[in-house]
Amino acid sequence: MCKPGTRTALRLASEQTGLASLGRGPRDSPWRRGGTATFACTFAPLCAYPAGALLDAAAVTAGTRTLDVGTGTGTVAAVALGRGALVTAVDADAGMAAAARSAAPGAAVRVGAVPALPFATGAFDAVVANFVLNHVGVPAAAVAELARLTRPGGRIAVTIWPYPPPRLQSLLGEAVRAVAAEPVVLPRLAAEHDFARTVAGLSGLLSAAGLTEVTGRRLDWLHRTTVADWWAGAEGGIGTASVLLAAQPAATRDRIRAELGRLAEPYRNADGACAVPTAAVLAAATVPA
Ligand SMILES: C[S@@+](CC[C@H](N)C(=O)[O-])C[C@H]1O[C@@H](n2cnc3c(N)ncnc32)[C@H](O)[C@@H]1O
Repeated sequence: MCKPGTRTALRLASEQTGLASLGRGPRDSPWRRGGTATFACTFAPLCAYPAGALLDAAAVTAGTRTLDVGTGTGTVAAVALGRGALVTAVDADAGMAAAARSAAPGAAVRVGAVPALPFATGAFDAVVANFVLNHVGVPAAAVAELARLTRPGGRIAVTIWPYPPPRLQSLLGEAVRAVAAEPVVLPRLAAEHDFARTVAGLSGLLSAAGLTEVTGRRLDWLHRTTVADWWAGAEGGIGTASVLLAAQPAATRDRIRAELGRLAEPYRNADGACAVPTAAVLAAATVPA
């Protein structure tokens, strides 16, 4: 079972990918009331899947000056270092930045928040942000900042969770609804700042920022986890669904936990772990010269 401080299992992504921190600090974000250690053993392994594709889309190879924005526990930064890139990483949360320093010791890790990052204009050949744009209050402003930091001709690549949510992200919400738990109103982006959590929506966000050679695609995979670990993440304050759980009385949470186990049954393997379909949207673009 997932124990904070380990990097074993996984899961629990935002059930509604349009949710965001609404411009407040990451501690206020509905997806992350839990600590860095809980994130490391629940959400981080889930976020790790697109790392290679993200770096490919940003053309990160040996010697590429690469910025990993919202690095979290440093997964993407570490993979970029493995390619021989010159890596800088930044996160709004000091605990995450500390974890990234351990995971990616060759990277220069700073604390800072989009859309005002502490780097010079055009300082990087490639800027990546893995599952970060879905946690900022004004996504267009965040993209503009990524573009500012990228040299002319350099590359930007970003991922988000799609909406409607893949099965992994929808299971817990379905369990909550099945036991008629108290409805919870979750904060959402202001309509004028929101965008479709689709390939077209994310690509359109990059195009609207004046970026060129925009491409987008969806990545689908099976995420391997256990119900116990999955539940540990949600109860530990990770993922939007954790907000739903926190609002429920203890007895109701027990019923939701049982319902989650029932709903996860079709995905269970012989070893007891589950392999549940999930997906990300990846988009990339070039900063015009
Ligand atoms: C879902 S996690 C993804 C972490 C990492 N990119 C990964 O793939 O594992 C989102 C990260 O973005 C950070 N974050 C949220 N808002 C941010 C902002 N405005 N500027 C920089 N980082 C931010 C959070 O602290 C968190 O570490």
